[in-house]
Amino acid sequence: MTALESFPWVSVLTGAILLTLFLGLWVWSEHRFDPRRGAMEKADGTACIRGTCGDAMEISLKFSQDRVVDAKYWTDGCRMSGLCGATAAKLALHKTPEEIGDIDHSAIEREVGGLPEEDIHCATLAAGVLQEALRNYLTQDNIRERVSKDPELRTVDRVAGALDKRKRSKES
Ligand code: FES
Repeated sequence: MTALESFPWVSVLTGAILLTLFLGLWVWSEHRFDPRRGAMEKADGTACIRGTCGDAMEISLKFSQDRVVDAKYWTDGCRMSGLCGATAAKLALHKTPEEIGDIDHSAIEREVGGLPEEDIHCATLAAGVLQEALRNYLTQDNIRERVSKDPELRTVDRVAGALDKRKRSKES
């Protein structure tokens, strides 16, 4: 018997099939049972942006005593956009508007343990949508859906402006 014939192909193949099934089930259940995924009724701040890749993402925030008590996301995009949307929503939980203002694409990348170059725009989109949802909370300027070339860059200044205005009104 040659070395090739004695190699346990059946065991390797069975292992590969089981691993694929397990991973598929894990991805499906993560997607299906993610409590952060979905729409929120009566959100205090919400935004939906379509990125240049064509994917739409929505993030909704509910505040109580100036802290996020609930955050939800939804996307029609790929698994990475789902992961980044979920992470943005998770990072926003229990934060004040000022703290949310600091959540950018790098914070999301760090939280997910790094992203391949080609998926960084998913984190950028998620950060942009989160900032836009915050801006919506601060200003109640409710533009539900935008199409943006760079959602993060385009919203960051507006959020900073809204936070500044809020700080000034608290001081006066
Ligand atoms: Fe569109 Fe990731 S591929 S957000």
